[in-house]
Amino acid sequence: MKHATKLTMTALLSGLAFTAGTAFAADPQSIGPGQRFYEKTCAKCHEAGIGPVIKGRGFPPATYMIIARSGMNAMPAFRVTDIDDATLQDLAEYLSKTKAPEPAKK
Ligand code: HEC
Repeated sequence: MKHATKLTMTALLSGLAFTAGTAFAADPQSIGPGQRFYEKTCAKCHEAGIGPVIKGRGFPPATYMIIARSGMNAMPAFRVTDIDDATLQDLAEYLSKTKAPEPAKK
């Protein structure tokens, strides 16, 4: 009985993770923890006119990592407790190879 409950929980939790992961899936092949963090956090400024567009700028991953860790004027610094190194690395690689978003259609 205990075992069955555990299995059910695992199934439920992986179902949730799957749903959360696909909510932002622009390109299912590139979805990763970095992209999720971008959509959830960076995009709130960087795709809302608060910060400049940072996709498709030709920055190397290191640039994203340094600016995210240091902050830049109005942009807050992201600490290891906000985003760990592995996720930030994934985010930096994702942004570095991603094209700029299409301009909004009117
Ligand atoms: C609270 C809003 C906000 C959030 C959240 C935010 N940024 Fe920024 N970001 C800014 C602003 C504003 C600037 C422009 C700073 C300046 O030039 O004075 C900026 C600048 C940048 C730049 C430099 C762009 C350029 O053209 O020089 C990079 C790279 C960047 N942000 C990456 C990120 C990443 C990666 C994240 C998520 C981890 C993030 N930002 C989250 C507001 C934000």
